[in-house]
Amino acid sequence: MTHADHDFDDCPDRHGTGSEKWDRWEGRDVLPLWVADMDFRTPAVVLDAIRARVDHGIFGYTNDPPDFGPALAAHLAALHGWSIDPGRVVGTPGVVTGLALAARLLTRPGDGIITFTPVYPPFLSLPVRAGRRTVRVPLVQSPAAWTIDFDALEAAAAEAGTTMLWLCHPHNPTGTVFSRGDLLRIADIAMRHGVTVVSDEIWSDLVLDDAGHVPFASLDHPAAATSVTLTAPSKTWNLAGLACAAAILPTGIERDSLRKAGGGLVPMVNPLGYAAAEAAWRHGDAWRRRLVTVLARHRDMVQETVARIPGLSCVPARATYLSWIDCRGTGEDDPQARCEAAGLGPSDGRDFGTPGFIRLNNACPTTRLAEALRRLARAFSTT
Ligand SMILES: Cc1ncc(COP(=O)(O)O)c(C=O)c1O
Repeated sequence: MTHADHDFDDCPDRHGTGSEKWDRWEGRDVLPLWVADMDFRTPAVVLDAIRARVDHGIFGYTNDPPDFGPALAAHLAALHGWSIDPGRVVGTPGVVTGLALAARLLTRPGDGIITFTPVYPPFLSLPVRAGRRTVRVPLVQSPAAWTIDFDALEAAAAEAGTTMLWLCHPHNPTGTVFSRGDLLRIADIAMRHGVTVVSDEIWSDLVLDDAGHVPFASLDHPAAATSVTLTAPSKTWNLAGLACAAAILPTGIERDSLRKAGGGLVPMVNPLGYAAAEAAWRHGDAWRRRLVTVLARHRDMVQETVARIPGLSCVPARATYLSWIDCRGTGEDDPQARCEAAGLGPSDGRDFGTPGFIRLNNACPTTRLAEALRRLARAFSTT
């Protein structure tokens, strides 16, 4: 069966495929709008590249193929106007892996790693697992935006033993796109206190408004010149299971030092992941642009529903397919349980360091999202 490449409504059934998202409430009538992958099929250009790689028939140990760095460089130049040296690109089997490796390579045991909270859960747990400390700097919530408390950031950076900052940019779960001004202030603080910035830009292709993404490392600033960028095609083209991401290293960090920091625990990237990544970066932009239109419309649907439910509020995401919904005004201690009881499965804010919130993933067919939003309304209806 062939499918129109732009059809974001006709999605394959994922039951029985080992889908983390769909297995969680297996056998229950709970719509899973939690973990950050999409229910959309990856575009034909990516499928064709995977098929071509399969037809080659040999899947031996695989280094970064010759076009991996250049394909990412071309994508970043076209989309963000950022020119990188393709020779500084190194494949990793995940962005999370890249974060863990950067911590092990560039900090010492006991060091503090700053992160803005709420945040994607591995930002909280990985430093601890690596024998480092998580240093939380809460973002400040206003009706229109989540913003950085620069005094709190300065104080955290000045603490003895704080040596790294993990920036999630654009930010999961709030959908914040940090401005050039924000990034420059972060860079100034990082430089003053000898803090290395690692910028996770996995969401940077999914900016929904005109905001525009400024890569941290593209700044004309000394702190940018020593920073590490992590990115991947996995969020944008729905390739997370193919486990292929990229680190963009500053000069001074040897390419093979990153993998070595894994102490033998980190595998090479698999050849199908490379094939998919290269095709997505080289040929996936027309599909990406159509996707962004759908995701912006879905974000707006969530906003409209949230606005109608007493006690809920949500700062509109400017990037990602996630909505970070504040449920504290409902007086409900456990909004996650309330949603699940109504047949809706969001992510629980507690995992992001902030109880009282839920995160909703809108990357599913519009009809499914509409049903999910009916269930959200039912979950919090007071009648
Ligand atoms: C900010 C952020 N970084 C990293 C990841 C996961 O990346 P990977 O699957 O490449 O480890 C996610 C997935 O949701 C994410 O939101």
